[in-house]
Amino acid sequence: MYNPFLHRLIDKYVQLHQLDIAGSDNIFYVRLLAGINSIHSLYYEVYPYHQKRDDFFEALIAGLFKAYQERSSVLQKRDREKEARGEWFLSNELVGMSLYVDRFAGNLEKLSDKLPYLDDLGVNLIHVMPVFESPAGESDGGYAVSDFRKVDPRFGTLNDLKALQNSLLSSGKYLMLDIVLNHTSHKHEWAQKAKEGDKGYQDYYYTFDDRSIPDEFEKGMPEVFPESSPGNFMFDEQMGKWVMTVFHNYQWDLNFTNPAVLVAMMENIFFYANLGVDILRIDAPAFIWKEIGTNCQNRPKAHTLLRLIKQCVQVSTPGMALLGEAIVSPGEIMKYFGEGMYLAKECDFAYNATQMAVQWDAIASGNTSVMIKAQADLLHKPRGTSWITYTRCHDDIGLGYDDKTIAEAGLNPYQHRSFLKEFFIGNTYGSMASGALFAVNPKTNDARISGTLASLCGLEKALELKNQYQIDLAIRRIVLMQAHAMFSGGLPMLYYGDECGTINDYSYLNDPAKSYDNRWMHRPLIARDSTYPSTEAANAATEIFEQTKKLIRIRKELSVLKDSSNIKWMKEHNSHVAGFLRFTAEKQLYCVFNYHAEDAFLTWYAFKEFGHSPQILFDNWAKAEQQVGADNEYFVLPPYGFAILEPKPWQ
Ligand code: GLC
Repeated sequence: MYNPFLHRLIDKYVQLHQLDIAGSDNIFYVRLLAGINSIHSLYYEVYPYHQKRDDFFEALIAGLFKAYQERSSVLQKRDREKEARGEWFLSNELVGMSLYVDRFAGNLEKLSDKLPYLDDLGVNLIHVMPVFESPAGESDGGYAVSDFRKVDPRFGTLNDLKALQNSLLSSGKYLMLDIVLNHTSHKHEWAQKAKEGDKGYQDYYYTFDDRSIPDEFEKGMPEVFPESSPGNFMFDEQMGKWVMTVFHNYQWDLNFTNPAVLVAMMENIFFYANLGVDILRIDAPAFIWKEIGTNCQNRPKAHTLLRLIKQCVQVSTPGMALLGEAIVSPGEIMKYFGEGMYLAKECDFAYNATQMAVQWDAIASGNTSVMIKAQADLLHKPRGTSWITYTRCHDDIGLGYDDKTIAEAGLNPYQHRSFLKEFFIGNTYGSMASGALFAVNPKTNDARISGTLASLCGLEKALELKNQYQIDLAIRRIVLMQAHAMFSGGLPMLYYGDECGTINDYSYLNDPAKSYDNRWMHRPLIARDSTYPSTEAANAATEIFEQTKKLIRIRKELSVLKDSSNIKWMKEHNSHVAGFLRFTAEKQLYCVFNYHAEDAFLTWYAFKEFGHSPQILFDNWAKAEQQVGADNEYFVLPPYGFAILEPKPWQ
């Protein structure tokens, strides 16, 4: 709908910035005209009554012009290239790795020296975990930011970050950074001013004189870190007020009901965009809108805010994709891709935390029923959006899939979850895992799991025992887990150290700033030159590295693995096996995975149930051909084995 107010506003800023709207700035101008109505309606949906809503709306629009003007010509060219390629981020040629700069490389400068290592592996997208200033001892691994624009000296300088971005760009790689949207450190300038009594900045947070409102909030809010940071509010002595702190008590929740916060955070988002970020990981978006009487997660207005952010980015810095780090139930997760007229217009990516967790479920139980049942929800991902697929990351593993999914698989949800928790801490008969329980909440009986991929898959114990048979099995489990994440649709994000089977690092226990948080056991310090404690460990590391590299190579060779939501899961034919078909109009690729410690027999019918009748399948992993047998004959998968099967082209 035509809106003269918007027309005047745009004109004002076009003139102010002296834009050449018929020439070089036309592309921005057209994007702005195309997006302005949505931006306007989304903004007023969030702030219908705020007294200063119009002033902040103008500030938001002014920010769009500023961000565009500050975008370098190199990045503008890259925007155009990405646009021309269309959905660049769905490509099967992308493979990422999340890493802590200091723990993986030492600092930002030294990270550039590690690029050849990542090249050799095949990784071409790097998620540089938080590097902006964050108080030592109260940093939550960098997710308690005290300055969104200053690189913490322990990692280097902003120039080092820019130099890294440059090296990535010139070598055809991509950069992912975080924006910690939900909260700041209590040492952030805004929080400091709030503590000093500045009412304006107190409104940047949820601050209260007494417990009456916090108590109302608490009725619905779960605890994120019940052991180390119980409750959702803390009393700040200096300010003399209660403040909302959903995560740690040193992380103050930003109050997005105040449009000043949105405008300020949007400026930070654009600052990152103009550093050359290709994918922006929006930390904890499920939490950004709070309402009394709810659990303060996944609120509709959180989605409206994310859509607004997406529209703004689309106008000024369109080459940057958005990843919403919402680790929420399968039903909720899909909403982060947008719904209705915003379908596929909210976050471009979300973590497939459900698939990750059900893979762990399957490796523990040797049974894929829960995984297969879980797909009913996951298959609704809209085209044009994608998953981050992964086996491990810097956080714990939450068993957040629905009880109903477990029940549909014929299991008792309570008993099954109890089994999984016991299994991963090595407490069940035959468990090879060396993990720990994280965020145990005796009130709800919830707990999550910490541990590295290798330790949870049994490598740590097998190496201790110097048991080569168990070492080999652990390696098979690791590679199976990675293979599943690599081929199941989305952008695979490796986690540093997993590419060479790094086991738990218990040194965090000696550091009081970390010892309260056992997630540090899977945030290993490998920046020093790796020396392995034994030949077995060194051999295992080489083996895992080579096999991971091979997986990446195969992924990049097979264009059918581009994520166009082109996946169909096989029915359950053998309870140890999960499989799916990836397809285009011309191509098919069957991927099958055995989660059992013994051979699994899969009926050949499994390859025909989608209406194709392949005769010969080429296994890209084993590099061998398979003659497809009759329906009463079987394809045999070795223990923890898998196959990536392509019908021969002439069929
Ligand atoms: C995200 C991060 C996690 C952090 C939390 C609070 O979930 O991944 O590490 O503790 O947000 O910022």
